[in-house]
Amino acid sequence: MSITAIVGAQWGDEGKGRIVDYLAQKANLVIRYQGGDNAGHTVINEKGKFALHIVPSGIFNPETMCIVSAGTVVNFDTMAIELDAIHASGVTTDNIFIDLRAHLILPFHKLLDGAEEESRKENWAVGTTKRGIGPCYSDKATRIGIRAGDILDPARLRTRLEMLLPKKNRELEYFGLPHTDIEQVMELCARWKHRFGPNIIDSVPIVRQAVLEKKEILLEGQLGIMRDLDWGIYPYSTSSNPTSGGACSGAGIAPSRIDTVVGVVKAYSSSVGGGPFPTELLDSDGEKLRAVGAEYGATTGRPRRCGWFDAVAANYSCWINGFTDLAITKLDILDSFERIKICIAYRIDDTIVTDLPDTIGQEKAEPIYEEWEGWLCSTAHARTWEDLPIKAQTYVLRLAELVGAPIKFISVGPERDQIIIMDK
Ligand code: IMP
Repeated sequence: MSITAIVGAQWGDEGKGRIVDYLAQKANLVIRYQGGDNAGHTVINEKGKFALHIVPSGIFNPETMCIVSAGTVVNFDTMAIELDAIHASGVTTDNIFIDLRAHLILPFHKLLDGAEEESRKENWAVGTTKRGIGPCYSDKATRIGIRAGDILDPARLRTRLEMLLPKKNRELEYFGLPHTDIEQVMELCARWKHRFGPNIIDSVPIVRQAVLEKKEILLEGQLGIMRDLDWGIYPYSTSSNPTSGGACSGAGIAPSRIDTVVGVVKAYSSSVGGGPFPTELLDSDGEKLRAVGAEYGATTGRPRRCGWFDAVAANYSCWINGFTDLAITKLDILDSFERIKICIAYRIDDTIVTDLPDTIGQEKAEPIYEEWEGWLCSTAHARTWEDLPIKAQTYVLRLAELVGAPIKFISVGPERDQIIIMDK
C-alpha cells in the first residue's frame, strides 16, 4: 500500500489521466491537488470516452473516494456538467468531495482572465484557457478569495463578497466590463450549496485516517512542470504548482509520506499555449505528430504545438520532482516514423548546455538532437516488454536513461489495457 503522486513531466497533456485511471482501479483515495477546470484529462475505459477537467480521474471506480483538495480552484458549474455527463453513462458520482479550503472560480474571474490576456503585448500572450484560473489564484494569494466552505454560511459569504466585489468591479470597469452584482453571486452560491453542500468537507481527517491505515492513495496533478508557477516557463505558466512539491501542499500530505512519484512523459513533446518550446517542429513531422497523436486541447480544442522528445527538459523535471518511476505514454504515435529524434542538449549563443535554463535561456535555445531509427510497425498490441520491437525498446531505454528514472509503465494506446507494466 502506498502514496503515489502522478506528475506531468513536460508541458501538460502527457496522459496523466490515463495512468491515474489505470491505477485508480485499486486506489482507495484519489486526490486532485492543484489547478482547476483548465485541465483536460482524456480517459477511455469500458464506460466510454471522457474529457475530465476538474473531476479526478478516479471517479470511474465507485470504491474510490475522490477529493478535490485545498490546492485547487473550483468552478461548480463545470463540475456539475462534468458529473452529469459521467452519471449519464451509468457511473455513480456520489464518491466526489471538495475540501472546504478550495477556492471558487466565480463568473468575473473568467471575464478578467480573457481581458487580461487581451491586454498583453504581442508575443506575451500566455495562451490561458480563459477558465478564470489566474484571477482566482490571484484572489487567493491576496487573501480576498471565496472558498468552498464560505458558501455553506451565507452571512459569512455576504461579508466576504462585500469586501471582494468593490475591488473586482474596479478591475472590470478598467477593462470596460460590466459590474458584478452581489445578489447574483449570492444566488449562484446558494444554487451551488444546494447541489454540492453535502460534498464540501474538511478532508484532513479522512486523508489522515487513510494514510495511517496505509490505504492506496493517488495524488493527481494537472498540467506539467514546464507550466509550473515557480519552476516553469514564467510568465507563460499556470498559477499553481503541478510538481510533486505542489502535490504535498495541495493535498495536505507531508513529503516524507510519499512513497512513489510517477513522472508521466509522452514519447515526444507537445505544448499548448505561449512561451518557448525548443523542440517545436514547424514541418511535416510536427504536423504528422499532431495528426496521428490527435494533439488538440481537451479543454479548448486548440491544436497543440508538437516536437521531438526534449530530454533536457525531462531531466530537469526528474530532478525537481524526484521521480521514482517513469510512465512513457503514446509510444504508438511514433510507430510510422522512419527517423526519430531526441533533444539531448541546447545550443545557446555559442555554448552547449544540458541543464535546462530559465525562460530567457529557453527562448534562445536551439535543440541538439541525436537520431534513432524508427521501428516501423505497430506497437498497439504490445502488452509486455518482449512484445515491443527491439528498436522501440532501445528508444524507450534511451529516454529513461536521459531522464534519469526507471520505466514503470509504457502506454501504447488509449484503451485501459493498452499498457505495459514493467516489473523490474
Ligand atoms: P491557465 O492555466 O488557463 O491560466 O493557462 C496557463 C497556461 O497553461 C497556458 O499556456 C495554457 O495553454 C496552459 N494550460 C492550462 N491548462 C492546460 C492543460 O490542461 N493542458 C495543457 N496546457 C494547459
